[in-house]
Amino acid sequence: MSGKLAGWTALVTGASSGLGTDFARILAAEGAALVLVARRAEALTQLAEEIRARHGTGVEVLPADLADPAARAALPARLAAAGLDVDLLVNNAGFGVFGNFAGSDWNRVAQMLEVDVVALTHLTHLFLPGMRARRRGRVLLVASTAAFQPTPNYAVYAASKAYVLSFGVALNEELRGSGVSVTTLSPGVTRTEFHLVSGQRSNRFVERTAMSSEAVARIGIRALLAGRAGVVAGVGNAALAASTRLAPRPLAAALAARLMRE
Ligand SMILES: NC(=O)c1ccc[n+]([C@@H]2O[C@H](COP(=O)([O-])OP(=O)(O)OC[C@H]3O[C@@H](n4cnc5c(N)ncnc54)[C@H](OP(=O)(O)O)[C@@H]3O)[C@@H](O)[C@H]2O)c1
Repeated sequence: MSGKLAGWTALVTGASSGLGTDFARILAAEGAALVLVARRAEALTQLAEEIRARHGTGVEVLPADLADPAARAALPARLAAAGLDVDLLVNNAGFGVFGNFAGSDWNRVAQMLEVDVVALTHLTHLFLPGMRARRRGRVLLVASTAAFQPTPNYAVYAASKAYVLSFGVALNEELRGSGVSVTTLSPGVTRTEFHLVSGQRSNRFVERTAMSSEAVARIGIRALLAGRAGVVAGVGNAALAASTRLAPRPLAAALAARLMRE
């Protein structure tokens, strides 16, 4: 344990699976006390037991459906009841819906926007004022390489991640000199439950480029601790993201469609 975050409390959303579990493990190894949020209480409790045993840090489990505005609004009071202030917020919970937009299930799309966009913005709004008042804080927003170009069959998901990227970079600039920074992490394909949930079958692009969840989470936490505005996970993903910035959007979208079909 490096102990860089001793005395800090980190709230990690989506800590029941994938990147969220790795963010939690890495932050605990840095000495942070944890608050774990997601819907699956049993998975959170299991992770909490593992982390307490390995690192001896405090871990609170707060099951919540982040698609529910009232459940989000109740989080600060639940934390206050546990005597905790959030110094570090990892807005990681999210999911994608794969397939053509016209044929998609509206309720699922609306829930995705609620979790990936509204909840992420709401939680940031709930916990940022405290961090600013204490002049100490870090926020990690999980975007995606899908944020860099329109992505057919992930049209709404990619647009929601473009929102996250734009929001995060602007907010970090607003907070310059405040003692609080916002880092936006853009992972490419990562081995988690994401594709199972989104309904995208594996293809050559997915198999060739997939990174481990732990490697991606480490890249995010390193950038967060360094106070960087943003980071794309992995050299290949960074090169792809940079190249799409130079291409006209329709061309970038056509290329993304091809990679999804491969
Ligand atoms: N894996 C990839 O290829 C990839 C690439 C780029 C970006 N990302 C982003 O990385 C983030 C983490 O995803 P992952 O890859 O780790 O996928 P994952 O294994 O499916 O994990 C998603 C997490 O989000 C939580 N979540 C979903 N809906 C929720 C809700 N309504 N309320 C509370 N929690 C909710 C899930 O918990 P419960 O089900 O227990 O609620 C789960 O812990 C997401 O924002 C995703 O968009 C992933």
